[in-house]
Amino acid sequence: MKIAVLGCGTVGSGVVEIIDSKKELMMKSAGENIDVKYILDIRDLSDTPFADRVISDIDIILNDSEIDTVVETMGGVEPAFTFCKKCLEKSKNVVTSNKALVAAKAEELFDAAIKNNAAFMFEAAVCGGIPVIRTLFSSLSANNIVSFAGILNGTTNFILTKMINEKMSFDSALKIAQEKGYAEKDPTADVEGLDAGRKTCILASIAYGHHIFPEEIHTEGIRSITLEDAAYAASKGYKIKLLGKADKLKNGKIGAIVCPFFVNDNSMIAGVNGVYNAVSITGDSVGDVLLYGQGAGKEATASAVVGDVMECARLKKNEKHYFWDKHEDGIIEDHMLYETALYIRGYSKDAKTALINIREAFGGVTVLERDDAPENEIAFITGKAAEGELRDTLSELKDFASASVIRIL
Ligand code: HSE
Repeated sequence: MKIAVLGCGTVGSGVVEIIDSKKELMMKSAGENIDVKYILDIRDLSDTPFADRVISDIDIILNDSEIDTVVETMGGVEPAFTFCKKCLEKSKNVVTSNKALVAAKAEELFDAAIKNNAAFMFEAAVCGGIPVIRTLFSSLSANNIVSFAGILNGTTNFILTKMINEKMSFDSALKIAQEKGYAEKDPTADVEGLDAGRKTCILASIAYGHHIFPEEIHTEGIRSITLEDAAYAASKGYKIKLLGKADKLKNGKIGAIVCPFFVNDNSMIAGVNGVYNAVSITGDSVGDVLLYGQGAGKEATASAVVGDVMECARLKKNEKHYFWDKHEDGIIEDHMLYETALYIRGYSKDAKTALINIREAFGGVTVLERDDAPENEIAFITGKAAEGELRDTLSELKDFASASVIRIL
């Protein structure tokens, strides 16, 4: 099987390196030879070992009937979308690592794939090397997915781990994450939760069968998390983790949210540190499943891409479709209606009186303590109720300025 790779950056070059170096494994496991015939890139790659395969015109790939499968590792929605759609329209399978593309355009790409009897695969788009996409589509397909919750972004997990374990400030931890090359080019997508949001939408679309767009789900990042919050969390046996989470609610709607949570230290997900990712999935028959591994990085992500390429080689044409149905309005519940308990930290001129008012307003709270807290600082955890109700109660409190609100998992 001859393939083309669009974009020879970190992941794309990793894909070419694996395919070039594991010929015997490819033959044995996929049942045929796999060769990279073209690498599409507009940069000067004449100094690389791939130079003789580099082209800059997509039409060469589109018009070459020998190319069976195209790998897209360019990133971003355009021109990746246009190129992928054209490849599918030429009945070429498309394998991508691009979560922005899948979150925004999967519906149209599924249509093109089905109409033209080609495959559209994207295992590497969520959690890099962790096999979560095919697990949800296939291995867990006998289950109704009750819920999933995942650490889906390595950069933010790295930053939170540094803050919690080494008492490092957010800014210093972000700087190290950038130096180590974990953060995306622009760290906003990581630290504001947008990257985790796209991945949450992809997983929720598979789990619940309809396309869910990132704009539909409430998304918060970790920029406002402080060392004070981490200290209060630790005082009650919690860690702070940025999670992408979705649940099938009793009313049939989907509760989906991306935000920092207080996570019980005894849970497996609390032990996932550094750039590692993990997804905990609960199915109605299987119970709890935890997938853990490297959510980013050249080799790990390329491993998932090449796995999809090999799957394309293995499957017969009419067996290649993994897809979900079109978007449906109103399937995502307003997150203010989800039941949760909240951790709240804030300040009051008269902390003693404020605490009496807080206990009365919330009908009892758990007060938290930390070393060296200023006298005017108050931190507590509420009981469980609809988030909107808790926020209304908070906004009505007199002489209490809230500085931080974090949900409890
Ligand atoms: N910036 C992403 C992360 C890369 O940190 O997880 C993988 O999508």
